[in-house]
Amino acid sequence: MTKAVIIEQHGGPEELKLVDVTVGQPGPGEIRIRHKAIGLNFIDVYQRSGVYQLPMPLHLGMEASGIIEAVGEDVTHLKVGDRAAYASQPPGSYCEERVMPAKCVCKLPDAISFETGAAMMLKGLTAQYLLKRTLPQGGLKAGDFILFHAAAGGVGLIACQWAKALGYQLIGTAGSDAKCALAKANGAAHVINYNTEDFLARVKEITGGKGVKVVYDSVGKDTWDKSLDCLAPFGLMASFGNASGAPAPIAPGILGPKGSIYLTRQTLFSHIVTRESTQEMADDLFDAVTSGKVKIHIDQTYPLADIAQAHRDLEARKTTGCTLITL
Ligand SMILES: NC(=O)c1ccc[n+]([C@@H]2O[C@H](COP(=O)([O-])OP(=O)(O)OC[C@H]3O[C@@H](n4cnc5c(N)ncnc54)[C@H](OP(=O)(O)O)[C@@H]3O)[C@@H](O)[C@H]2O)c1
Repeated sequence: MTKAVIIEQHGGPEELKLVDVTVGQPGPGEIRIRHKAIGLNFIDVYQRSGVYQLPMPLHLGMEASGIIEAVGEDVTHLKVGDRAAYASQPPGSYCEERVMPAKCVCKLPDAISFETGAAMMLKGLTAQYLLKRTLPQGGLKAGDFILFHAAAGGVGLIACQWAKALGYQLIGTAGSDAKCALAKANGAAHVINYNTEDFLARVKEITGGKGVKVVYDSVGKDTWDKSLDCLAPFGLMASFGNASGAPAPIAPGILGPKGSIYLTRQTLFSHIVTRESTQEMADDLFDAVTSGKVKIHIDQTYPLADIAQAHRDLEARKTTGCTLITL
């Protein structure tokens, strides 16, 4: 038996229940992992609340680290006793121990702690595919301006540091002056408090009226319209979340007059669909972290039994950087 967090229906944090469940043996292509630490992500909130509808009962959580306890047939990249970490479908990381597909589970380098591994996999792989694979026509080069919303959050603080290492001028938005200062300290070239300042006017001012090459937008409804107007001609609107709600449907015709801009909606799970792409992206993330280019900030920690409070604080915008769930 193992402790696991489930919900039986979509709803508020009060739906999160810590229960005892049995853990089976891994089948072909699967592993059993005993967790050392678990990561908290905003997608967990969408899955709990019903923004993303999933079958019930639902085991929640998409990110963790631990030790491989058993390996099913056909799994060649992991063995019993390996330290490992993952960001992966299906949900179910809020537990002590689980059986899951091995494809997205990566060996964790000795230089990276279980805590860092659990905190960074989903958020770090997201920052990786955004900055390295979600690019405007012609790519990005050193000195280019990009706009990154929610820059002091989990994905945001990683992106600030990585963008700086790549030479990009990241303009970061955040909801308070303290969060803006944090984003700046982590490599944002410019910061805007989007609760007190007009971020469109500030982006125009910072870029000398030219606009940015890419907007990375995970806030959604509240930032959508102005974000499109922050783009330079042929710029890329990369939507990857909806923390404030889903943006309204959009007519393709509006993209032309805004400068023939491009629009994409990205999800990590398209990028980590194969073992090879997952490992390639993870190796890049491991290198960014072990080289010191990117530091993983674990700014909040909650025991698994307090998972409801962790959800409340994330939704109330009280957190910065990464949040760790301990066992
Ligand atoms: N598509 C993908 O592949 C993918 C993968 C990972 C994450 N994501 C998305 O990326 C975003 C960041 O994820 P994360 O786990 O690192 O979370 P996070 O950034 O640590 O937390 C979300 C942040 O969004 C901002 N926000 C703006 N309006 C909000 C609202 N109405 N309610 C709540 N928060 C609001 C808040 O920052 P301020 O107070 O500074 O506004 C909040 O701290 C999320 O939208 C997530 O869904 C997408």
